Amino acid sequence: MPDRPTAPSRRAILAAPLALVACRGEAAALAPRADPAALKSGVPFPVGTCAMTGQLADPRWVHLATTHFSQLTPEWEMKMEYILGNDGSYRFDAPDRLAGFARDHGLRLFATTLVWYAQDSAWFKGLDRARFAREYDRYIATVAGRYRGQAVGWDVVNEAVAEDGDGLRTCLWSEALGQDGYMIRAFEQAKMADPEAVLFINDYNLENNPRKGATFLRTVERLLRAGAPIGGIGTQSHLDIEIPAGRTTAFMRDAAAFGLPIHVSELDASLNGERRLDVRSRTQKLAQQQARVTELAQAFSDLPAAQRFAFTVWGVRDTDSWLRRGARDDGQDSPLLFDAAGQTNPMFTALEAGFRS
Ligand code: XIL
Repeated sequence: MPDRPTAPSRRAILAAPLALVACRGEAAALAPRADPAALKSGVPFPVGTCAMTGQLADPRWVHLATTHFSQLTPEWEMKMEYILGNDGSYRFDAPDRLAGFARDHGLRLFATTLVWYAQDSAWFKGLDRARFAREYDRYIATVAGRYRGQAVGWDVVNEAVAEDGDGLRTCLWSEALGQDGYMIRAFEQAKMADPEAVLFINDYNLENNPRKGATFLRTVERLLRAGAPIGGIGTQSHLDIEIPAGRTTAFMRDAAAFGLPIHVSELDASLNGERRLDVRSRTQKLAQQQARVTELAQAFSDLPAAQRFAFTVWGVRDTDSWLRRGARDDGQDSPLLFDAAGQTNPMFTALEAGFRS
């Protein structure tokens, strides 16, 4: 899909002062706030975050998660890598705890993910085709069935499109069941296991890379025509803050043309772009981050009410982010709404502005 030029919207004009204060870097609105009003309050759609069981014992995390968010996605422990053992056994201790936490705190549970190229359990390798298909169906039936009536939605197929946007990825699932076949089958099985859940196809870099966005939407169209019960479109939105203004809005508009609910499913916005020479100050990068995050929140808020499934941020504090773990952690990145001390980052204000303008 071509990257269409867009005229500045009413909201872009409204957001301009925000960018200006961000440049000055001193505005009170951008100062860290220790106890801001709940992000979710007054927002007419669910606002989500993700969780790991290790965070449930941290009172500060619990306070922030339950004050500002209304939906919870298990970050890792509802994925195949956690649930399915190499011997074909299933474990549900951690995902059950997360589901229980959501229930106890009145948060909607969003479940991810049933089929993902990146997680292809050893259990499936070496099975003949008939057994493979049976085990595939059994996995989906067992896992989606377990949270039936509680999960409001599932990412059924995650990250099917090739990295560069040129076609689909080849993976264990596509090799055994066919390139479209594994996806259609997954949606059909999930529908049987949990008929009420909204079933999503989810991917990333859809707004960053228009070619990938277009391949993704063509895939959705083809699968729908083939009868796959896709109920929603998930855009992860691990945002590249350097993308041109208007690109996120253009993707949202193209995605909305299907009339399906849309989930911004994993927002984070790293300050570490891939520019070779970057002499900008942190304040300038934060202003860039704010502008892109506000654009995304506005584009989502502008969708028809029935298409605003939820808006999920991939973690609570910067230090909770997957971008701040292991080798990737530079100790500085600020991709989320709260700093390590639980005070607001400028990105919090950017999101509020996008939701409320
Ligand atoms: C990541 C989690 O953040 C990590 O904790 C986990 O180890 C691997 O998965 N795209 C996705 C998410 O669809 O499920 C990924 O989450 C981040 C990239």
